[in-house]
Amino acid sequence: MVEFSSERLARLTGMLKRRGVILPAFEIHGGAAGLYDFGPVGGRLRNRVNQTWINHWQSLGNVVEISCPTVTPYPVLEASGHVGEFSDFLTECKKCGEASRADHLIEAIHPNAESLSKDELGALISENNPPCPSCGESEWGQIEAQNLMFNTKIGAGSSGRQGFLRPETAQGMFTSFTSIYRHFRERLPFGALQTGKGYRNEISPRQGMIRLREFNMAELEYFIDPEVNTVHDFSLWNQEVTLIADKEGEIVMTLGDAVEKGIIRHPTVGYFMGWTMDFLLNVGINPAHLRFRQHESNEMAHYAQDCWDAEIRGSYGWVECVGIAHRGCYDLTAHEEATGQRLRAWRTFSEPKVVEINGWTTDGAKAGPAFRALAGQVKSAVEELPPETKFPFTLSIGESAVEILPEHVKRVQRSENVNGEWFVPHVVEPAFGIDRIIWHLLDHSYSEVEKSGEDYTLLGLPELIAPVDVTVLPLYEKDGMDELALIIHRELCGKKNVFSVYDASGSIGRRYARADEIGVPWCITVDHDSLSDNSVTLRSRDTGEQTRVLINALPF
Ligand code: ATP
Ligand code: GLY
Repeated sequence: MVEFSSERLARLTGMLKRRGVILPAFEIHGGAAGLYDFGPVGGRLRNRVNQTWINHWQSLGNVVEISCPTVTPYPVLEASGHVGEFSDFLTECKKCGEASRADHLIEAIHPNAESLSKDELGALISENNPPCPSCGESEWGQIEAQNLMFNTKIGAGSSGRQGFLRPETAQGMFTSFTSIYRHFRERLPFGALQTGKGYRNEISPRQGMIRLREFNMAELEYFIDPEVNTVHDFSLWNQEVTLIADKEGEIVMTLGDAVEKGIIRHPTVGYFMGWTMDFLLNVGINPAHLRFRQHESNEMAHYAQDCWDAEIRGSYGWVECVGIAHRGCYDLTAHEEATGQRLRAWRTFSEPKVVEINGWTTDGAKAGPAFRALAGQVKSAVEELPPETKFPFTLSIGESAVEILPEHVKRVQRSENVNGEWFVPHVVEPAFGIDRIIWHLLDHSYSEVEKSGEDYTLLGLPELIAPVDVTVLPLYEKDGMDELALIIHRELCGKKNVFSVYDASGSIGRRYARADEIGVPWCITVDHDSLSDNSVTLRSRDTGEQTRVLINALPF
């Protein structure tokens, strides 16, 4: 069992920096809090974890990958509620001026400080006088809400429009709903996923990779019909899982039981918790340090109806790494209301129904002269508009955009025999923070042992995500061993999904140790015999076992 400690944390972060895995960004200019680089080893690790995540969710069979811009116009994030709601409370230390998140100052006093109001936070801070994490003094200023989005301007000069760097990838999936719906032949359920950068101007990013201002997100928006009772196969997960439920507190049970008992409120949320657990364990998270925590109702994001976080324990304690939220119809409705565009799916009734429609039609006396030859098409299009449409409204008729003014339309009540209806799909969203997951899988796979009287460290990363698959080592750089090793190395580099490193510097023991330190699962050593018998030594990181293998029978 891993013993986390601040000393181990310092050694681990030192190694990650020294070996080019994760390191503070722009350090030669003094750096900036909350910005990190994935270095020459980390870049590939990040890429592999990302790709594994994409493959994992695509294996659901009805999920497609999309990619949307990170620069986002103001109206998109106004409609989604982020302009109004996406904020944290900050307070500044009166002595050193350093800003802190008010809820983080009293985390040790209140178990769920994130859910407290501004006044509650203020009262607890003045009662308890927590010390400033920067200077240790305890004099705090006013508490203020700070929106976490980075502002930007799209375009130059006075015609530039206000925008933001996206705080989540999700909104692109909602605004692209129509095209994804069409892609899936207009049949629910289906999902769209996206990996990419998210930006949050965090108030006090002090915990390495845990709180970044630019980070790697991986999100799936899964669209479902709320009236269809989806049956999921929970027999995939027979193991018991630790759940911290909003009402029941800590319980240990299978996901299937938790769904059946209504503790997990929606089966698709439960199913995605299982799918999330599989991903985390596959990439190397230790199951003993994984649990799921349900949000209390006052803690949930503005869009969520139920939310479970996958929390992972590591050197920084328990940290939320994934949020699995039931977002209901919040987002599609919000974008529909803001744009007047239909973001709905069609549901066919089992039998036709008579329904009362409080709809719109055109006022012939005004619309006829205004639209002339297009009047008939405008009338049909207006009658399709949802009852809540606001005018003026722009319709696309063929190639033309037609502006419909309030005087062109009137209300119409009619009964219709209909065989289906348009409805706003519900969304279940697993949202992953790739950086926090990478941090924890490094933290869990890092081990320190003493070997021949020397400190020796090893990253026991699964082969699936190891940044380097194999290192090729000539025993000596002479007699042609180096040339043969380079030929093997280049051939391996040319293979799909294999990344090889050539290392000829230092003693062979030192080179094995360097490979183990960054988690390379296999080393190939070329020695004198290799030159005559075409075989090499294959060494396993995990067992230390060395076997003789013919070059053309190497398992890569
Ligand atoms: P926290 O409460 O820790 O600020 P959050 O509840 O705001 O996190 P979400 O909005 O649910 O987080 O974001 C989804 C995921 O994105 C999180 O589970 C986390 O892994 C990741 N994430 C969020 N903020 C950051 C950040 N500042 N740095 C790194 N990863 C982050
Ligand atoms: N898309 C979920 C989140 O950013 O919280």
